[in-house]
Formats: sequence, C-alpha cells, structure tokens
Amino acid sequence: LTPILLTPHTVHVWRANLDEYTSTPVLSPDEQLRAKSFVRPIHQKRFAAARSFLRHVLARYLQQPPQTLTFQYTHYGKPYLPGSSVYFNLSHSQQWALCAISLEEKIGIDIEEINQEKDVEKIAVRFFSDYENQLLHETPADKKHEAFFRIWTCKEAFIKAVGEGLSFPLKEFDVHIDEHSARLISIYQDEKEAQQWSCVVLDPTENYAATVVAKTAIKKVELFEI
Ligand SMILES: CC(C)(COP(=O)(O)OP(=O)(O)OC[C@H]1O[C@@H](n2cnc3c(N)ncnc32)[C@H](O)[C@@H]1OP(=O)(O)O)[C@@H](O)C(=O)NCCC(=O)NCCS
Repeated sequence: LTPILLTPHTVHVWRANLDEYTSTPVLSPDEQLRAKSFVRPIHQKRFAAARSFLRHVLARYLQQPPQTLTFQYTHYGKPYLPGSSVYFNLSHSQQWALCAISLEEKIGIDIEEINQEKDVEKIAVRFFSDYENQLLHETPADKKHEAFFRIWTCKEAFIKAVGEGLSFPLKEFDVHIDEHSARLISIYQDEKEAQQWSCVVLDPTENYAATVVAKTAIKKVELFEI
C-alpha cells in the first residue's frame, strides 16, 4: 500500500464500522487476552476490530506490517509507539471507531452517540464547568442534547490529548461551542494556555458527536474510511 504523508498542523481522521470490519487477525497476545476479558461477545469483537483497525491504519504511515507494531502504555493507559514521530488516539462508541493521526504528540479524539434519553442538564452539573453549564442552560431545548454531546466530546478529547485520564479535573477547563465549532477558552483559568490548543468538530455519522483536539494549530483535517 502507498505510504500516507502527514504534514504538521494536519490531522488525519479514520473511521471504521466495527461491526462490518473484517481484516486478517493482527492482535498481539496481550490484546487477544484483553479481547477475551469482555463478557459480551459483541464487546470482544468490537475491541478486536478496533485494535485491528488501529494497527492497519498505523501500518500505512509507518510502512511496517500491522502485527509488528508494539504498543506501550503510559501510566494512565494511553497507548503509544515508542520512538515514533506519528501520534494517534482512538475512540469508539457502539459500532463506530475513529482514529486520529498526527505529528503532534498531544492528540485526542472522542466519539459519542447522541442519546436523547439522557437527562443532560443533570449530568452536566456533575461534570461540566460553571461556564459550560451556563452555556448548556441557555441552549434551546431542541438543541440541548446535541450541544451537551458536543461539549462532552470536546472535553473528553482534550483529556485524552493530555493523556492523564480523569486525574485531570473536568471542571477546571472551559469549552465553548457554537453551531459549527468548539474551542478551549481557559485551562485552570489560563486563557493563554487554552490558546495553544485547537478543537475541530467532526460530523462522524448520524446521531453521533465527535471532536478532535490537539496542542497545535490544526489547519486541516482529512477524513479517511477503512
Ligand atoms: C479511558 C478514557 C481516557 C477514555 O474513555 P472513553 O471515552 O470511555 O473511551 P474512548 O473510546 O473514547 O477511548 C478509549 C481509547 O482511548 C485510548 N486510551 C486509553 N487510555 C487513555 C488515556 N489515558 N489517554 C488517552 N487515550 C487513552 C485507548 O486506545 C482506548 O481504547 P482501547 O483500549 O480499546 O484501545 C478516560 O478519559 C475515561 O474513562 N473517560 C470517561 C469518563 C467520563 O466521565 N467523562 C466525562 C466527560 S465530560
């Protein structure tokens, strides 16, 4: 396969439908064990498909067979490839998986199903900052769920880019969203720090929200399907 070229300030986002994804098995022994640890077969299959997808995507950039990639994990469980200048992050929700690839180390992506049944204002009180709660409160009722999941995916993608899991307090940074975009407005009340980051709202598929976040000016996002 032809190698794919990544340039600075560009993020490549790959999408896969995990329930339709078929490829040669390429999982490492520890990944096979993890797949087996899921109770429900559908979750076993989706985990295996997501890891397979991730390996096949990375193989295109690294020009290396997918089964030869060796992931390492940070203290917080973020997978990475030691010694590589290609950075990635994976997210899945039901059958959909997205993988972001970048030359920027601090890269995060999140996809969530827009669940209309959730009491979003109640959940927001627990997880969102005062600023975000106010923003959600002012959003018209028919747009509230979408707004909630847009803010949520932006927060989650930022947390995933930082890579410290939920040890990073969710209420200590503010996200602003409008119809088409999202941005970080402050991190620990520091607006200058927030300006170092950029967020791009994606439109992954009907009824899902997704955002990619990186600590760089993202000038272009290219979408790929596998
Ligand atoms: C693990 C976590 C990083 C993301 O979890 P998630 O949103 O449930 O799941 P996603 O599908 O988006 O991401 C999972 C993938 O991220 C990667 N990942 C794991 N740990 C990570 C970390 N510390 N940082 C970044 N990425 C990580 C892995 O590739 C993982 O998938 P895999 O194990 O199947 O390969 C963590 O932030 C978490 O548990 N978040 C959910 C809790 C919450 O309350 N969020 C509120 C948002 S307002």
